[in-house]
This record gives sequence, C-alpha cells and structure tokens, in this order.
Amino acid sequence: MSVRNRIEIVHGVNLDQLGRRDPEHYGGLTFDALEYRITAWAAELGLTTRFFQTNFEGELVEHLHKLEGLADAIVINPGAWTHYAWAIRDALEIAALPAIEVHLSDVAQREEWRRVSVIADLCLTTVSGEGPEGYREALGRLKEALDG
Ligand code: DQA
Repeated sequence: MSVRNRIEIVHGVNLDQLGRRDPEHYGGLTFDALEYRITAWAAELGLTTRFFQTNFEGELVEHLHKLEGLADAIVINPGAWTHYAWAIRDALEIAALPAIEVHLSDVAQREEWRRVSVIADLCLTTVSGEGPEGYREALGRLKEALDG
C-alpha cells in the first residue's frame, strides 16, 4: 500500500492576521511563523504539508471539494466560521478525509457563541487552547490514524 502522509493544513477567516490579533488569545506568532513551525513538526513525523488560507467562505468550500486524491488528512482551523458556517461543514463531509479541528485559543472558555462548533462531530478530535503546540498534537494524532 502507498504511504499516506499528505496533510492539508486549512485555515479560515482572519487567521492570516495572526500577529495583529489579541495576543492574550492568539499569542504573538505571525501566520508565516506558524506555518514554518507546522512544516517542521510535520517533517519530524514524516508527514508532508500543503497550506491553504482564505477569508472567503466559498473559496474554502471549493478547496475542500478539490482535495480528493491530493491529501490523506486535514488539519482545519476555520476561525469564526467554526461556529456557524454550515456550508463548510457540508464541504468537509464531502471531502471525507480524517480531520482534526484546531483552535489556538481555548474556545470553551471564551464567549458563549464560540462554544459551538459545526464541524466537531466530523473530526477525529478537537485541540483547543494549546496555541501553536495544538497543531503539533493534531499532526501526531493524524500520524497515528494514518499509520494505524
Ligand atoms: C480561533 C477561535 C475562533 O473563535 C476565532 O473566531 C478565530 C480563531 C482560534 O484559533 O482560536 O478566528 O479559531
């Protein structure tokens, strides 16, 4: 069987603005620096990564539609779309790949509206409130899932 190691790292709305967002919730890392770290962590695990970020919901939907044959698993942080974007949920379901939801901040300890996730039940797990390290954990979990 061929190696399954291609991880699609998908970021939604406003995540390109990391470094300018409230450091209390999101830390001081820029989006580029976050991508750099994720790439290095993935390499340590023998995983390859592709990155996608958009502030346009339809673009994220179309990106998920096109993943068939290009990715083996997904790490997804949809930003605020997490909490209400049913079209993204449907597209994630169509992608039908193992996925993990990641949030830099601890969404369970913030405003009430952030406690809802419309994608959580499609994901193997949700990692929240661990900052950038949460992506490392997600990659480790996906590695196990792909190897197992
Ligand atoms: C976030 C949490 C969301 O509630 C918020 O809208 C974001 C980022 C996080 O990574 O903590 O944009 O997904």
